[in-house]
Amino acid sequence: MYGLVNKAIEELIVTSFGEDQWLLIKQKAGVDIDVFISNEGYSDDITYQLVSAASEVLGMPVRDVLIAFGEHWVLNTATHGYGAMMRSGGTSLKAFLINLPNLHTRVQMIYPNLEPPRFECQDVKDTSMSLHYFTHRPGLTDFVVGIVQGLGKLYKTPATTRITALKSAGDDHDIFEVTWTLPDP
Ligand code: HEM
Repeated sequence: MYGLVNKAIEELIVTSFGEDQWLLIKQKAGVDIDVFISNEGYSDDITYQLVSAASEVLGMPVRDVLIAFGEHWVLNTATHGYGAMMRSGGTSLKAFLINLPNLHTRVQMIYPNLEPPRFECQDVKDTSMSLHYFTHRPGLTDFVVGIVQGLGKLYKTPATTRITALKSAGDDHDIFEVTWTLPDP
């Protein structure tokens, strides 16, 4: 994955838990890279090792690390670093999720070797939809959960996700029932 993903993990750990914890996590992960370069490609293994070492060092389940990372991705990395691209996604959670299938196509203009996930929205209603997530990468279901939660916060429409299909349990791909609360008019 491109270095900005690992950089975002570093930023989350350093700001929430401090530099010392980050150095411990990197050591435990067996990663001896000093500075991640955003537009350079790194083996996916590095990202997985950092997440699993963070889980061990911080005493948090991998699931919680991925959810925190997903929220951080939306509320910090994407909004600060890629604000224009995020804004082009729309002005509500629903609009943003509907536009999600196009988002990484735009990201691909900056990062040409991107191997992006693919999303499809089905059964779109006023306060719910089913979000289909296709990827060749295992284990990132809870990252998507965190991203959707972060988007709910960003648009001030708190969102919950219920997983109704899991590739890791033999289904074709992951499916999330996303429900959100609209603000009072
Ligand atoms: C402008 C904002 C965004 C940027 C710049 C961005 C960029 C990236 C990059 C660089 C990767 C690593 C893939 C690679 O290097 O091959 C990635 C992966 C991923 N992105 Fe985004 N992304 C953005 C927003 C989102 C949003 C809103 C979602 C919503 C669900 C999302 C979901 C994912 C997931 C799940 C992955 C993990 C890889 C996989 O599933 O195969 N991203 N993204």
